[in-house]
Amino acid sequence: QTVDWDPEDAGKGGYDHYMLKEIHEQPAALRQTLRGRADPATGDIDLEDFPAGTFADVDRVQFVACGTSYHAGLVGAQYLSAGGVPAQTFLASEYATGQPPVDDNTLVVGVTQSGETADTLSALRQANTSGATTLAVTNVVGSTAARECDDALFIRAGPEIGVAATKTFSSQVVSLALLAERLVRDVTGTRTDDTRERLGALADLPGHVQQILDYSSARRVAEEYRDSDAYFFIGRGSVRPVALEGALKFKEISYEHAEGFAAGELKHGPLALVTSETPVFAVFTGRNDEKTLGNVKEAEARGAPVVAVASDGQDAVHQYADEVLTIPDTHPDVAGVLANVQLQLVSYHAADLLERAIDKPRNLAKSVTVE
Ligand code: G6P
Repeated sequence: QTVDWDPEDAGKGGYDHYMLKEIHEQPAALRQTLRGRADPATGDIDLEDFPAGTFADVDRVQFVACGTSYHAGLVGAQYLSAGGVPAQTFLASEYATGQPPVDDNTLVVGVTQSGETADTLSALRQANTSGATTLAVTNVVGSTAARECDDALFIRAGPEIGVAATKTFSSQVVSLALLAERLVRDVTGTRTDDTRERLGALADLPGHVQQILDYSSARRVAEEYRDSDAYFFIGRGSVRPVALEGALKFKEISYEHAEGFAAGELKHGPLALVTSETPVFAVFTGRNDEKTLGNVKEAEARGAPVVAVASDGQDAVHQYADEVLTIPDTHPDVAGVLANVQLQLVSYHAADLLERAIDKPRNLAKSVTVE
């Protein structure tokens, strides 16, 4: 007796798509990213090639990245700025146009899963020529970015096959959180105020992500709103990048119109597009939630269904939202990773219901090697 064996299906480990497999690999990937690098009990950070003092001469940080990695870079800059280190994030393809000033004390960090994205490599080369120190934050050991930069920090997420980046975004954000802790200490000489709480929240992430994977109602939500005209995602502060990422993922694999906005910007233009046929996904973290709730009410007043991503304890949010995708309660700086997992699941199920080519969406490539 013979069994038909498709190596492609075997690689998916029982899941219908690589994307879903990789979403479910996140607890394990995050454990790898964190392994041996942070001790919540003492607040110590151990980043292999970057011992204490490595970044003592840095006076500003510039992130360059594309796509999903750009959204992780936005989060990274927020972590640094909050800790007192000046930081900005640039779309790699725009970096040359803006010609941001760099000098010997500028650290330019290329965030790139593959380490092969032409726009990002080009920005890193420009930074290098201008005298900055360059650092690749990448998943691929031996990639061009890892080889060409002065240093590399590996996110250790394991191979990602699905074109839509999922587990690598989570591991990028966690890697940048650890890098930010190191940088803030080296540059300012002090720890962030709540270092131990923050490291504790990172250590809890794998278990918290597993809870979401076990209990998410994302498929039901995707089904409920499957015939909508467009899908909007809003968040403020630390979860504005998550709103942008939620929309990017949604459009990439469902081919439906999706846009992400800073929650406060909704009223400055996009509200013109909001109707009863445009669900608004609103991300809450436990910080600045009242203002975001105000923005949600503006959308609801135009008839839009609201899907909140929030923890159980946020009663006011539960009162106003039509649906809530719940996330475990955690540090507000880390909540975005959890919210993003719920949004990954919404995008996946929306695309699956539409029978899209989820692992190889039209017109997209895993790694884009032209500028
Ligand atoms: C491509 C992929 C995106 C990815 C971007 C950056 O456009 O389709 O999913 O986010 O490249 O890739 P990188 O490997 O540099 O992170």
